[in-house]
Amino acid sequence: MQRAEQIALSERMLNFKDTGVTSMADTPFTNPVSIYTDRDYFERERELFFKKLPLFMGLSSRIPNPGDYFTNDFTGQPILIMRGENGELNAFLNVCRHRGARLMEEPCGQGKRRFSCPYHGWTYDAAGRLVNLPQEDKFGTVDKQKLGLTPLPVAEKYGLIYVRPTPGAPVDIDKMLGGLGPEIGSYGFEKYVNYRTVTMTYDFNWKIVQDTFLEIYHLPVLHRTTVNPLIDSSVYVFDPYDLNLRFAITRRNFENWRSQPREERDVLSQLAIVYMLFPNITFIWQGDHAEAWCAYPDKDNIDKTVIEFTLFAPEPPANDSVRRHWDKNFDIAIATVEKEDFPMSEKLNAGFFTGAQKEVVYGRNEPALQYYHQTLRRAMKGLDY
Ligand code: FES
Ligand SMILES: [Fe+2]
Repeated sequence: MQRAEQIALSERMLNFKDTGVTSMADTPFTNPVSIYTDRDYFERERELFFKKLPLFMGLSSRIPNPGDYFTNDFTGQPILIMRGENGELNAFLNVCRHRGARLMEEPCGQGKRRFSCPYHGWTYDAAGRLVNLPQEDKFGTVDKQKLGLTPLPVAEKYGLIYVRPTPGAPVDIDKMLGGLGPEIGSYGFEKYVNYRTVTMTYDFNWKIVQDTFLEIYHLPVLHRTTVNPLIDSSVYVFDPYDLNLRFAITRRNFENWRSQPREERDVLSQLAIVYMLFPNITFIWQGDHAEAWCAYPDKDNIDKTVIEFTLFAPEPPANDSVRRHWDKNFDIAIATVEKEDFPMSEKLNAGFFTGAQKEVVYGRNEPALQYYHQTLRRAMKGLDY
């Protein structure tokens, strides 16, 4: 976050503390429960948001060098993202053009110059060109130039990679970020490293992952002894950025800012900042590192979700003590959601199917959650991004 914005945000928080008001919505907002239970609604979400829309796929530093690659299967489309020979980023459907076999089986790899299909050995380079076709003389004449991997629109900026899971218009990251770009860019995420990633599957609708992180109303109850002692849940700042939003919360001793000269105020270390990157990424600044919770709906089950969690560290760990620090942060994040948030999410998801209620209501004190759902409602009418 830019320095001027850090100061402005800290001033808003101190002012909220002084006046007892905070970021509030005008009224409670209701949603039909069917947004979590209706099959047709779910199919439309998958089509609009997980096939057509550019999605955040990781940080640039995940594949820093030519020939580095990773795959993503969670959208329902098999995606292969790789760094080309001149450092450019390429994305393709991970599908061999011969007879459709899956080209790369491993989730990631480094420095690979040739990508060979495990079925008959058709081989592609890092730009997706078909460079070798075994027994070409016997196979017969085909136009190899037309049989390169099918490209997907991809872009990287501010250290973020976005891919559109189906062929289509180019990706405009600035448009996707809706004004958040310069702020995201100010962290220098292109230098951050993927410290550790874990994938988990839960029995609840994919939107509930975002719901979990977009309000702190539940802190004093669900997280009474874990997170609540650390966070001042009476103060939070919400700001919309087109499809996305920023939801900033603070540690309990943030009022130390009052005794620090403004220019020296240590703002970022006191904040947890939730960036909701539409539609499925909760990207969190955690004071000295960042985390991403990436939620993907199962392709068949409306109430099953795959979640990929990654901790991003500012640099490769220099020694064991740094490693222990990141491991501890990783374990705390996972323990909180696995023991408290996500089991609760499974129960409320089950509650949606009981017929107990036709609507859910999000309070005035849940402005980020309201905005997310208002944005989803808008987006379901169609998107042009
Ligand atoms: S399907 Fe890939 S080489 Fe045949
Ligand atoms: Fe929580």
